[in-house]
Amino acid sequence: MIHYEQTNRTFHLRNDFVSLVLRVQLDGDNEPELLMPYLGAPLCDPASCLYLCAPRGGASFDSPRQTLPYACPTDGRGDYRPALVCAVDGQGQRCTELFYAGHRIEAGKPGLNGLPAAYVEDAAEAETLFITLRDALTGLEAELRYTLYADRPVITESILYTNTGSAPLTLQSAGSACVTLPGRYDLIHLHGAWAKERSIERVPPARLSREISSCRGASGHEHNPFAVLAAPDATEFSGECLGAALVYSGDFSITADENAYGSTRLTLGLNPRSFTWQLHPGEAFQAPEVLFAYSANGLNAMSQALHSLIRQRVCRGYWRDRERPILINNWEATYFDFDPEKILKIARAAAEDGIELFVLDDGWFGKRNRDNCSLGDWVVNREKLPCGLDGLSRDIHGLGLKFGLWFEPEMVSPDSDLYRAHPDWCLHAGSRRRTTARQQLILDMGRREVQDYVIEAVSGVLRSAQIDYVKWDMNRNFMEAGSDTLADGRQGETAHRYMLGLYRVLETVTGAFPQVLFESCSGGGGRFDAGMLHYMPQTWTSDDTDAAARLSIQYGTSLCYPASAMGAHVSAVPNHQVGRVTDMRMRGDVALGGNFGYELDLSAQTDADRAEIRRQVRQVKVLRRTTQQGVFTRLLSPFAGNVTAWQFADEDRVILCAYRVLNMPNGEPLRVRLRGVPEGLYQAAEGSTVSGSDLMRAGVPLPFAPHDFASCVAVFERIRKVL
Ligand code: DGJ
Repeated sequence: MIHYEQTNRTFHLRNDFVSLVLRVQLDGDNEPELLMPYLGAPLCDPASCLYLCAPRGGASFDSPRQTLPYACPTDGRGDYRPALVCAVDGQGQRCTELFYAGHRIEAGKPGLNGLPAAYVEDAAEAETLFITLRDALTGLEAELRYTLYADRPVITESILYTNTGSAPLTLQSAGSACVTLPGRYDLIHLHGAWAKERSIERVPPARLSREISSCRGASGHEHNPFAVLAAPDATEFSGECLGAALVYSGDFSITADENAYGSTRLTLGLNPRSFTWQLHPGEAFQAPEVLFAYSANGLNAMSQALHSLIRQRVCRGYWRDRERPILINNWEATYFDFDPEKILKIARAAAEDGIELFVLDDGWFGKRNRDNCSLGDWVVNREKLPCGLDGLSRDIHGLGLKFGLWFEPEMVSPDSDLYRAHPDWCLHAGSRRRTTARQQLILDMGRREVQDYVIEAVSGVLRSAQIDYVKWDMNRNFMEAGSDTLADGRQGETAHRYMLGLYRVLETVTGAFPQVLFESCSGGGGRFDAGMLHYMPQTWTSDDTDAAARLSIQYGTSLCYPASAMGAHVSAVPNHQVGRVTDMRMRGDVALGGNFGYELDLSAQTDADRAEIRRQVRQVKVLRRTTQQGVFTRLLSPFAGNVTAWQFADEDRVILCAYRVLNMPNGEPLRVRLRGVPEGLYQAAEGSTVSGSDLMRAGVPLPFAPHDFASCVAVFERIRKVL
């Protein structure tokens, strides 16, 4: 899979789906530079792309370095495009020159120290190329690691920076990956805000540097740490595209830059705006990993590669391949205003309807009856729950349901025993004011004693009762992010140290309770990234639970993330976020597109809606293996029209889900063609049979009910593998 060819000093990482070519090339002073001339469809011979290593610009004014596809571009040497590395020496000199110093190839894929990453279960699944680059003057080494999976169109990259010199260096930028493709590419990315996460934006080619980023201390609602370079003619089903997802949950920066010499560069890594790192002699710094997925056949194939990689080789643990329980969460049913009676009334109704897991949300601890206190005091509020968590959990289990609990462990309320005892444990910038948001401050997760406190606080509660599920929330972003523990000049390390501390906590807690199902959350989907999914296999997608709004949120999220990762709940109407009324069928059919659950007071629903809920629960139990582990395909985009459609398929069935937002006379497509349906004979719900190829050629009619917000789900069971 990975070959080194001595004559051309070329590395070729190749499988049946993708090629990556790297080349060691001597510059004008005979220094060996590392170039990446090619990442794309599999090549027969890597030499065929080496013309892309020729400097451009002829006798022009510009530096030839401005035209070359550097694998690890650095600041200060005439490549004016975005760089990965800026290392400053004791004199303040920012110039770094990284030249090839050696390489090795290993079977498998090593883990990343302290950081989430994709993994292998068997060394035969992948090969890894390590290339060391070195700056002779400072001694800075960058070890670039490229892993090629044998059976996936996927390459991962990360960089380990080591100071092998004798003087300290300050990393002002320590990026993770860089790709430079010849030609113009569109940048596709996911943007949003609270309750409207991950809309798809496609930016046409333009000679502008573009950046998507976060300096919020979380990957954030606004931008997602994921981007696609797509050929201008690429569609969902055709054309070249390269998806790149950063396996990281904190501050990041992704730049896309098209330069005057007709190439497009993508860089990914930590956000230099909120990062510096002192690297003393002998110390190393590990940059996060990037997952690249290549498709020659459009965006769906790229997404499918990312879905299966993230689901099978980023997510881990007991729940990775298991069917996820249908849950009911009390948040929108009660908010903070609950007692055991209210909770048990909802849980009883849930048990009657076949729901499997009850989740008690915010408000069960300390003195918390509003969002103004008690974060950090993870002790049950006995005034509210006299039976304690163990009593409540017993009652809920007695109804035949599992029991789950909400936490927000990274936070502290100024009105809390924890804050009164340890006012220095929150992030703060010296004597500056500490700005609260949602009346809370953020714990300094970079501090070891804070990490240990959080581990013990959460673990203590999990030991105190039968708790089968945890919702791990995070409800504000960084301000005045400094740390008392960092010496002068090192405050720029706060944000990344926070993430390293958080990852240690997550590794410890999830490892100690392997059968607990963890779901991450951040004011809805404000930390939906591959980093969190390494610890928790599902994420609450958005606080906006309106069925119509969820179409674009879930559709956009699917560009990178699998349906099994997306929490999707049926909530009450009028919807609490947008006031819209949609019928129970539509709400259930939309939630079917993710990890299915409810978030309403079941006991307050009409008989007809309860009957529909029971039907949904029965249906989800039959279909969830396919919706959670099957192949997801986007068919019609909510960003392009009034009808949205997507499809799930596995060896046993195909499920078409279609949604029409507004009812309009004579304006809608009458059918949708399925895609990638496995060959064979299928049975439709009404008993008729149809071949897989006809489902793709003739399509499926969409019998929407004649009103706004209508949906239809058509299930085709595969009854014969051949016609
Ligand atoms: C934000 C989450 O997104 C909600 O689902 C809920 O858990 C609240 N936090 C509770 O404070």
